[in-house]
Amino acid sequence: MTADRYCVVGNPVEHSRSPWIHARFAQLTGQAVQYERLLAPIDGFSGAIQAFRAAGGRGCNVTVPFKFEAFALAGRLSERARLAGACNTLRFDADGTYGDNTDGVGLVRDIVSAGIDLAGRRVLLVGAGGAAAGVLGPLIEARPAVIAIANRTVDKARLLVARHADPARTAGVRLDACALGDAPADQDIVVNATASSLGGDAVPVDARVLRPGTLAYDMMYGTAAQGFLDWARAHGAVGRDGLGMLVEQAAESFTVWRGVQPPTAGVLADLRGLLAA
Ligand code: ATR
Repeated sequence: MTADRYCVVGNPVEHSRSPWIHARFAQLTGQAVQYERLLAPIDGFSGAIQAFRAAGGRGCNVTVPFKFEAFALAGRLSERARLAGACNTLRFDADGTYGDNTDGVGLVRDIVSAGIDLAGRRVLLVGAGGAAAGVLGPLIEARPAVIAIANRTVDKARLLVARHADPARTAGVRLDACALGDAPADQDIVVNATASSLGGDAVPVDARVLRPGTLAYDMMYGTAAQGFLDWARAHGAVGRDGLGMLVEQAAESFTVWRGVQPPTAGVLADLRGLLAA
């Protein structure tokens, strides 16, 4: 049986763990899937996608910095991709390219698998860039009582709130936008979706946002998440990095392509072991 080809497209892409994760999913589900890395030139995303498709590619994951270009390239979009304004998953169908965004579902599933029920909780989302936009829709669907979005540039948080007003109303979720310094205290769940650690900067909100037992979630993993996790634990919160989100968003992409849901818990445990070795 010839395997169907998929890839992760990015720049850089060498660090990506997606090929490892999807190889495990293929093995566990018995799907004939081959998954590779594709380094696209910064100004050559659509050309790289066209070439991959022409060579028989069936779909791809899209990572930094191409998620917005992937959104523009897709002829059909899922509702969650439309809300996010970005795609991390493309599927090449006979009638064109379908674009989806599985990041938010990945985050929510990982929070649930950490034993946290989001319903009725107070959530603080720190950041209002692409990463935050990618997860807000599915966070709303999990029906917390309130989601406050705190960002250095408050207008970007306001725009995110405005764009999600309809689904928030439908789900009965209050959405607030605020400056970092005005982030509300004593949250149940704090999600760091900023890129501040990449520039070597400190956690951009005050520790009063935490209470003992708060789930403090960084969407990054490895050294990029360490400062946030140390800060959270020093203040009595429960830290969690984004490795589980990475595995869960990959699983949802696999389902979008293959129509089957791969098991994730063992894959996450093995990946954690691999990275710790
Ligand atoms: P990404 O796709 O990773 O979200 P992005 O769209 O550039 O990247 O967004 C980066 C996010 O990190 C933004 O919320 C940004 O705040 P601004 O919107 O004000 O730029 C936030 N961010 C980056 N560096 C930061 C820092 N040093 N302190 C606080 N927030 C920071």
